[in-house]
Parts: sequence; structure tokens; C-alpha cells
Amino acid sequence: MLRRLHHEQPDSFAFTPENQAWAEAQMTKYPEGRQASAVIPLLWRAQEQEGWLTRKAIEYVAEMLGMQYIRALEVATFYFMFQLQPVGSVAHIQVCGTTSCMICGAEDLIAVCREKIAPNAHELSADGKFSWEEVECLGACANAPMAQIGKDYYEDLTAESFARLIDEMAAGKVPTPGPQNGRYASEPASGLTSLKDFESGRHQYNASVQRATDIGDTIKRIDGTEVPLLSPWRDRGANHQPADPAVKLNASPQEVGARAAKPKVAGNASVDKTGISKREAQAETKAKPEVKPAAEPKAAGPGKKPRTMKAPRKAGADDLKQIKGVGPKLEKLLHELGFFHFDQVAKWSEDEVQWVDQNLEGFKGRVSRDNWVEQAKLLAEGKETEFSSKVKKGGVY
Ligand code: FES
Repeated sequence: MLRRLHHEQPDSFAFTPENQAWAEAQMTKYPEGRQASAVIPLLWRAQEQEGWLTRKAIEYVAEMLGMQYIRALEVATFYFMFQLQPVGSVAHIQVCGTTSCMICGAEDLIAVCREKIAPNAHELSADGKFSWEEVECLGACANAPMAQIGKDYYEDLTAESFARLIDEMAAGKVPTPGPQNGRYASEPASGLTSLKDFESGRHQYNASVQRATDIGDTIKRIDGTEVPLLSPWRDRGANHQPADPAVKLNASPQEVGARAAKPKVAGNASVDKTGISKREAQAETKAKPEVKPAAEPKAAGPGKKPRTMKAPRKAGADDLKQIKGVGPKLEKLLHELGFFHFDQVAKWSEDEVQWVDQNLEGFKGRVSRDNWVEQAKLLAEGKETEFSSKVKKGGVY
């Protein structure tokens, strides 16, 4: 199946403040410079918030993680779990069509989808409330046939019970997930034959159904207020509560929201252990009048700082993205450091390469890894590299 961006796209995307705080916390799970590892969870949260992955959402996540857009797009288009087209405003229904479910009646469920929702998978129903698709085994084979609706599983379905679920959801209700034939979990339909002691004292529902019922997020769009933001890895070994509510253990959504009132993209800056990127911190520092703003981004470390420029020459900056390894975020960072032209990069000595490598926050080591100096020498002479010709043809960005 060809997976492409949908032809109609919204103009913008932004995480809710709570989702933004959550996303920034996820980024701190990875070592400095490896924030791109958070791409799947962040794309997933964007989809949970919007229902599907829009182009703007993919770009927003790429910006947060300092990735080239194309890299985030590759991930989004590779995994079928990412919906690249609008889904039903009430629910997107995923019917398992694999062996156990198939022999237990999945085809009847799909017939219900075709009749009640739309003739083809990934099409919206006439009222826009539902969409559906057939998916591979969802791991609930003992409760076949089943479907995932929103976040939860509806199991032991029949065409009749399935049709009733859809009707109830269309009417604004959220039916209780789990087995729909009276089973508690995946015990024999006739009841337990062993371990009967466990039948007494149990909750009304099995654990996953109980949790779904408690949280109530089965088909709602996730805005981040459903559960408190937890990020225990941030305080591991530090035995302290950070002052920032967004990083406080068990912080309430309100506390989190207070910090993240304005969603902002962290850019390619890595985040420190408080969850605030260094560039964000600099921006906040600048906002306080009593603190003298930094004249230029903090840059230090081993090596020798190359000569920099305050602005590009009159003819304008070179397209540094023609250097393999430099994407839009890195180009911006290079401008902030005072580098605008190929001939500047071409002149860097080994010591200077070391300095720049150390000062590319979030991209440390890229200069030497991708051999920028050799590339820049060719480009400064007006020659082309295989990569720069691709960029000029528009095949990269
Ligand atoms: S075959 Fe349907 S859940 Fe496994």
C-alpha cells in the first residue's frame, strides 16, 4: 500500500501545553545529541492528539528533535500505525483480520464496517464520525474476534454486538471495553476450571478494562491532562524535587500546564536534566531585565574558535544545506554561531573543526563525521558534490 501525505492538510500544528511538557520530558530519556530517538513516541502523541498525523505535526516533531523533515517523514510513512489521512472524529476502528479472529468471525465484523462506516478501509463515514481498517494480530487471539477502537480492545465480538458498539459511540457513549460476551478475561467461556480461588475478591473488570474505565480515554483525543506527567528517570540518583513543576514527580497536569502555557519548539538544542533546552534557558535568561543578555550563544570547549561573521555578506548567505549533514536546523545554528558561507567552513583547521564540533548543541561531532570542510572547499570553488546537486534539484528538503 502506498503511504503518502494526505492531499488536504491543516495550516498548523502545536502540542497542547501538557503534551508539549510530556514530549520535552520524553526527549530527556536519550543521551545528548540523540534526541531524534524520541521520534516515534512524539509522532505517536501528535497522532493521539489530532487523530492522525498531519504534515505540520511531522514537521513540528522534526523541529523539536533537530531532525531533517525527511527523516521524520520516513518514520511516519514506514509504520502503518501512523494514520496519514483524517480518521473518524469519534473513532478509528481497527479490526483484526489475522487467523484466530478470521476463523472466529472477523469477516463479519469487516462487513459491519463496510455497511455502517464506509465501503473501503481508511474512508470516512458519511457523517465523518468513523473510519476503519483491517489490521494484523493485536495479541488478543484468545478473545477473538476483536477490534481495537481508540486506545482499547473490544473482544469476543459478534456482528450484532459490534454494530451495537458503533451505534452507542455514534450516540456519544463509550461502551465498556474488554470481552463483550460476559467473559471476565480470557478464561474458558464456560468459566474457570482451575485456580478458582481467584474468582473471589476481584474487581468488577479485569485489570486493563478497569484501567480504561478509570481513565476514560478510550476514544478521546489525548490532550495530556488524562494522567499526571511522570518522569522518574530525571531524578534518578538526584534525590531532589526540581523547582520546575513540569519536571516534578507526580506533577499535576495543572502544574505542568502552568509551565508550558506557551508551547514552544526546543529546536535542535539538547535538553538538560531539568528538561529545559539550553537555548530555551538562554531565552528565559534574556527575558529577565536584571540579567544581562548574552551577546552570542554560549560556545566553548576544546579546540580553537574560527573567525565568525556578524551577518552574511551583501549577496546573502550560501545555502549551507548543500553540505551533506547540514539540515535546516543545523544551518540555523551555524548562522547563530556566525557561519554563513562555504569559504568560512572550507578554511577551518583541525583545531577549529574540533571547536565547532563541540559547539553544535545537539549535533556534536557532525563536522568531522560528515567531512564538511572537504565538501565546503568544493562548493566554495563553485563545484558540486553528489549531495549538493540533489539539494538543488529539490530532492532532499
Ligand atoms: S488473531 Fe486477532 S488478535 Fe490475534
